[in-house]
Amino acid sequence: MIKSLCMASSLLVFSGIAFAQKAKTPKPITQSETEFIDGLMARMTIEEKIGQLTLYTSGWDVTGPSLNPTSTEELREGRVGGLFNAHGVAYVRGLQDIAVKETRLGIPLLFGYDVIHGHQTIFPTPLGEASSWDLDLIQESARLSAIEAAASGLNWTFNPMVDIARDPRWGRVMEGSGEDTYLGSKIGVAKVIGYQGDNLADPLTLLACVKHFAAYGAPLAGRDYGTVDMSERTLREYYLPPYKAAIDAGAATVMTSFNEVDGVPATGSSWLLTDILRNEWGFKGFVVTDYTAINEILAFGVVPDLKAAGELALKSGVDMDMEGSVFNRFTKQSLEEGKVTEAEIDQAVRRILEAKWKAGLFANPYLYLDEKREKMHVRSQVMKDHALNAGKRSIVLLKNEAVNDIPLLPISKSVKTIAVIGPVGDNQLDVMGSWHASGIEADVVTVLAGIRKAVPNALVTYTQGCGFEGDDTSGFAAARTAASKADIVIMALGENYVQSGEAASRTDIRLPGQQEALVSAIMATGKPVIALIAAGRPLDLSALDEQVPAIVNTWQLGTMHGVAVADVLFGDYNPSAKITMTFPRNVGQIPLFYNTKNVGRPIDLDQKYTSKYIDAPNTPLYPFGYGLSYTTFAYSDLTVSQPAMAMADTISVSVTVTNTGKMAGEEVVQLYVKDMVGSVTRPVRELKGFDKIMLAPGESKTVTFRLSANDLAFYNQNMDFKAEPGEFEVFIGGDSNASLSGGFELK
Ligand code: BGC
Repeated sequence: MIKSLCMASSLLVFSGIAFAQKAKTPKPITQSETEFIDGLMARMTIEEKIGQLTLYTSGWDVTGPSLNPTSTEELREGRVGGLFNAHGVAYVRGLQDIAVKETRLGIPLLFGYDVIHGHQTIFPTPLGEASSWDLDLIQESARLSAIEAAASGLNWTFNPMVDIARDPRWGRVMEGSGEDTYLGSKIGVAKVIGYQGDNLADPLTLLACVKHFAAYGAPLAGRDYGTVDMSERTLREYYLPPYKAAIDAGAATVMTSFNEVDGVPATGSSWLLTDILRNEWGFKGFVVTDYTAINEILAFGVVPDLKAAGELALKSGVDMDMEGSVFNRFTKQSLEEGKVTEAEIDQAVRRILEAKWKAGLFANPYLYLDEKREKMHVRSQVMKDHALNAGKRSIVLLKNEAVNDIPLLPISKSVKTIAVIGPVGDNQLDVMGSWHASGIEADVVTVLAGIRKAVPNALVTYTQGCGFEGDDTSGFAAARTAASKADIVIMALGENYVQSGEAASRTDIRLPGQQEALVSAIMATGKPVIALIAAGRPLDLSALDEQVPAIVNTWQLGTMHGVAVADVLFGDYNPSAKITMTFPRNVGQIPLFYNTKNVGRPIDLDQKYTSKYIDAPNTPLYPFGYGLSYTTFAYSDLTVSQPAMAMADTISVSVTVTNTGKMAGEEVVQLYVKDMVGSVTRPVRELKGFDKIMLAPGESKTVTFRLSANDLAFYNQNMDFKAEPGEFEVFIGGDSNASLSGGFELK
């Protein structure tokens, strides 16, 4: 029963809600958004207002998710604004019923979840999918995950994560787009559009949440939750643009980050949350903290107690407290003591109510709750087909040497015996990667199953060899025997799903456990070996690169992992992906990224006093933007449309790309720009455009990029974002070492 229906202005709405399940169509709200929210807020007690600023997780028990008793009580009192980790229409309906029918005002809840790369059908990890450089594909992944998740009763995802990351020791690199600001911004936008569509009240969309604001991807030494310390120039030029791009694309919410920025915890930083986010960027949605991030302000040692942490967060611009219950416990007292104002509370409440309005929840709190829709979309064939397509398009061919004059890959389907060896070979759980939401393990196609299906007439054996951890090499002998009986060996190696992701930083990013030793043991059999790497992060693959003729970085592809991998192995799909994070030769080179700054003593191997390491090569193992195909591409005729451009003008740069091999294939054509002289130091080159094109054997295409002054702008000494007149060099090619170049002048 709805308890308080006293105000006439709300009767229409709430009576609609009350009978939503009986009378299928709720009565429409006749008021405007502002009138409605004003009316509602006028009736809210201070406890109810603060309650709207509160988000709790719903835990899980053996029969499904359940709320802990305290939060259930608070929920009944109307002191909860949203829940996360609750999904499934029946369960979510039960919780929404409490909010709608048992609380005084019947305000519906938001239901959030980490839908990061799929909901129950799992798509490739975000870093993997970024390697596709295919914005339409990425947008479609977001759209389909929104459909599957929204059909499960959710209306809010904690995604996209657009944290730029240059350090593969940080486990959460798997969740982002890699090291590049330009590409990362485009991908962030694609995801926001995919999740939100053009109408948030469409029950097959989710509110997006851009995270983690800000610079969470740059903890010192890659240690998760560690200190972030960078210049404002680096922050603004490399780390902030993807958040801004996603917000400009209409992201409804923003999540704070766990780290400090310049001495201030991000969750209590008015510079980040108000000056930049609201005043500079004009963000209109609401800001949610990361998990208990207000409470953690205390551990930073910048406030004496939790109450003060809550005051700092609210005054800085936080609207919703995730899980920490600091607002619910202390904000009323802070108000009574004059430490926060009612206007500050009201502003946060309003932003959250506005989001609920936009999500269509006031018109119909049960909008996302429809069993038929759930049945139709969750784990549907459409989802699986997309998982396969996205999987194939995310696989990066790193190395493909000829054995007996023929490249090892693709494998002929007339192969007789294949030995699959390694901990990823027959594994369903780990190839879903970290943050696999409520992905269904049983749906996952393993590497072994994918290969067996692709070559039904071949004998395909499986031996694990070793696990992901520990010193156990007792499985090596059986693996060697299996290898020696096979025509070809496929080693399925990588990380398990908890070796990357949150709280999974590593100091050693080689293959974990005994996997490198297993590779050496198998190589000793003299059989042709193909290594498949399913990891969340770029690994140090130097030891493999030295010995193994073919290396395929499959990433963790989710539900259709094995089918996608088999499609590439047997040439049903020609790999087209390119890495979006530099693969280092060893951990000591980290951070290693392509758009490094000019220095006063650039590397010169013949000169001692230049910037370099003396104990290892100074190049990456595989550079940013790199990835092979079963065909080859040649670049020629780089043409710049005119020798000079005016500030208000644009210039175009084109190139001819030819497929010089025997197979049709796609190439990611990349444009890099170098500012020859700037008033502050500039990077050696920066990605400023890319295009993915399909070419038949022998076919040529001309690709044209346009550059405007805005593409050439940077923060000058006064921190003004401007392009400066002068010479620019452009490079086009298939990776960040592209050498074909041209130039122009900006006047
Ligand atoms: C993570 C967030 C996530 C949140 C809710 C936190 O630990 O940092 O990215 O959205 O948990 O699950």
